[in-house]
Amino acid sequence: MTQRRVEIESVDDDEGFWQDRDTVLACLQETPPRIPPWFGYDALGSELFEEITELPTYYPTRVEHGLLQRHAAEIAERLDCEQVVELGSGSAKKTRLLLAACTTLRPTTYVPVDVTREMLVTSGDALTAEFADLRVHGMWGRYEAALARLRERTDQLAVVFLGSNLGNTTPDERAALLAEIAATLKPGDRFLISVDLDKPGAFLDACYNDPLDASAFARFRLNHLTHLNQRFGGDFELHCYYPRAHYDAASATVEGHLYATEDHTVLLRELGMKLDLRRGDSINVGFSAKFHRPEFVADVSTLGFTLDRQWIDAVWQYGLFLFVRQ
Ligand SMILES: C[S@@+](CC[C@H](N)C(=O)[O-])C[C@H]1O[C@@H](n2cnc3c(N)ncnc32)[C@H](O)[C@@H]1O
Repeated sequence: MTQRRVEIESVDDDEGFWQDRDTVLACLQETPPRIPPWFGYDALGSELFEEITELPTYYPTRVEHGLLQRHAAEIAERLDCEQVVELGSGSAKKTRLLLAACTTLRPTTYVPVDVTREMLVTSGDALTAEFADLRVHGMWGRYEAALARLRERTDQLAVVFLGSNLGNTTPDERAALLAEIAATLKPGDRFLISVDLDKPGAFLDACYNDPLDASAFARFRLNHLTHLNQRFGGDFELHCYYPRAHYDAASATVEGHLYATEDHTVLLRELGMKLDLRRGDSINVGFSAKFHRPEFVADVSTLGFTLDRQWIDAVWQYGLFLFVRQ
């Protein structure tokens, strides 16, 4: 009998993180109300994100794919590690390029971390079917829970954080997450992270809204409300919201919002919460921060990392950065 090469470990209180009332409540009480970033990625949300990556105007996935196609062999060599952890792995379609290069050098264990269990299963099955020298040990749960679990190990690790996922957080959440990653890695461990570099607002507005004849972004954003309705007995009505993203130059961040199209009140029974919205008010359904390269490298270096190498494309200004933990 062949040994199963995909295991999924629940690291975050099984489905408990979907019921994290305190975090959801605290975010909804902000001005404007906000939905926590991981909450958009139930099974349907993750599928809708995949649709977004296919939009002709959504460049980040395509550009990162190109960078990995060109440089995966060199990156795999410099990762120099048998265990590759990926935070927020999603479909792992781009990571596949890296894992192909890693497995030609050494047998590899891939540890994808994600809140969407379905994505861990389907990507794990596809990857192990393709690469004989790959084992997959998925961690189902939030980043912090997985990092806490990884702190118990003694062997060398490489942590990979792709898709400019770091930008999907507030500045405070971002600083805390980077500090957690630094605290998890040991001297010599590698940290590969991609970030989208800052660029003109008009260009970013076009990238983060649906082009004509498409609706992937709109459905992805509205699905946050459907998910809240399901988890917390909410009565959000989707036709009362207009989804739209805009770039804020002061914070170099694209913000996704749902704008109320009429005055109304929403009840979230299981949170014991009422949300009064006037026409034009908005609910924040996601950040996508853009980065200034020198500041980004300096911020990560301050946490005890040395930049080993960077790969930045000339046209779209999207970068992969490989750091070594000191
Ligand atoms: C923007 S998608 C990117 C997916 C993939 N890395 C890519 O580049 O295409 C973000 C992924 O991170 C996961 N995610 C978001 N927040 C998370 C959290 N706090 N803990 C674990 N996974 C998270 C989502 O489920 C989703 O698969």
